Amino acid sequence: MSKIQKGIKKIFLVLCFACFAYAENTAPNLVNIMLNFEKEMSLIQEAFLKNSQTLVEVRQRRLKNLSDQLREIPTSFYLDKKTHKFQNLIDLRIMRIDEELEAMGKALKRKDMDFAFQNYLNILNECNSCHILFRR
Ligand code: HEC
Repeated sequence: MSKIQKGIKKIFLVLCFACFAYAENTAPNLVNIMLNFEKEMSLIQEAFLKNSQTLVEVRQRRLKNLSDQLREIPTSFYLDKKTHKFQNLIDLRIMRIDEELEAMGKALKRKDMDFAFQNYLNILNECNSCHILFRR
């Protein structure tokens, strides 16, 4: 093998490793985000039932943080042959969750718990709308 060929082989191997490491890092990330979503959604529901504005605010911030994390993962990463055709629908779900959380933040600033609760219900609907697309 020539020096150039060896060099190319080295670069190729490093790239393979980088892709592998990236995939390994992102895969558990989605599941982690989902598990945290589930936890925070049940905690915010409790906060609404207690009618505690302060607790709802804490959970809204946590959920917004998770929504930001979800937006950072390229959808192409978890789409396969079957779900690829839903790319636009899936992107829309992610966008809507974020919009609802923004709206909830504003509702909480004006102390409108009814509006914030409606935002919560809309988010729940978006979770389900996305999961339906992944059902086999
Ligand atoms: C962009 C689409 C999308 C949205 C929006 C979404 N999910 Fe998910 N969710 C997924 C996918 C894909 C999986 C399967 C992950 C896997 O197992 O690889 C999943 C899995 C889950 C799981 C199971 C995790 C496990 O493996 O044990 C829970 C719980 C969950 N989601 C909760 C939620 C909640 C709560 C919301 C709303 C706040 C939400 N998800 C919004 C796509 C989505």
